[in-house]
Amino acid sequence: MADHHRTIRSFVLREGRLTQAQARAFAELWPRFGVDWGPGTVLDPRVLFGDDAPIYLEIGFGNGETLAQMAAEHAERRYLGVEVHRPGVGHLLLELERRGLTNVRVLRRDAVELLTHGLPPASLDGVYLFFPDPWPKQRHHKRRILKPEFVDLLARVIRPGGTFHAATDWTPYAEQMLSVLDAATEAFINTAPDGSYSPRPDDRPLTKFERRGQRLGHAVHDLVFRRR
Ligand SMILES: C[S@@+](CC[C@H](N)C(=O)[O-])C[C@H]1O[C@@H](n2cnc3c(N)ncnc32)[C@H](O)[C@@H]1O
Repeated sequence: MADHHRTIRSFVLREGRLTQAQARAFAELWPRFGVDWGPGTVLDPRVLFGDDAPIYLEIGFGNGETLAQMAAEHAERRYLGVEVHRPGVGHLLLELERRGLTNVRVLRRDAVELLTHGLPPASLDGVYLFFPDPWPKQRHHKRRILKPEFVDLLARVIRPGGTFHAATDWTPYAEQMLSVLDAATEAFINTAPDGSYSPRPDDRPLTKFERRGQRLGHAVHDLVFRRR
């Protein structure tokens, strides 16, 4: 059913062409790693993975390099990834196959839809939002995914003691993230001792793009908040 109350999306779908390898990935690997969730049903990650391991969700994983890296480094964790961009999903499927990973499942959906309707309360140990589209123009700010309504959705699905970790290289967006999360005092507490940004936690791999940015002197801000 269409979502009538929410018309502004955080993405503009650029379908893009799939490479031959990505097209093969959808045909052959989607049955193994893909999750065909749709609104109207609830996806219980514990049932999906069939065990009691901690479960992490990455929102907007792009080409999935970071997600695959985290999953390879933490075999004891389970990962859900949600992304709308088809070629990015195809890229991740290939990466999961190449690395022989079994602890990742992938959804090609709008993450807001998934968080709104699709997951049981307190079903996640952590949520990652790395380098979300910054929508730098003033008239596009309304498209930024991290806003009070989104934080409410996070508060519902992250278990008490679980974490929300965001990173951005767009300083004005980092400032907005900090103030939106600070305002959600009943649900989240900043883990940074000075109540500001955090050093990059070890479980966020450094991306190629970020290494280049560092050489150019671009700041990256990490925000790590704990669910009360
Ligand atoms: C700037 S890219 C960053 C990708 C990746 N996290 C990285 O660090 O390279 C933002 C990604 O978020 C995805 N995205 C934006 N809004 C989304 C939503 N509501 N649900 C799922 N994916 C979304 C976009 O398709 C895009 O791939």
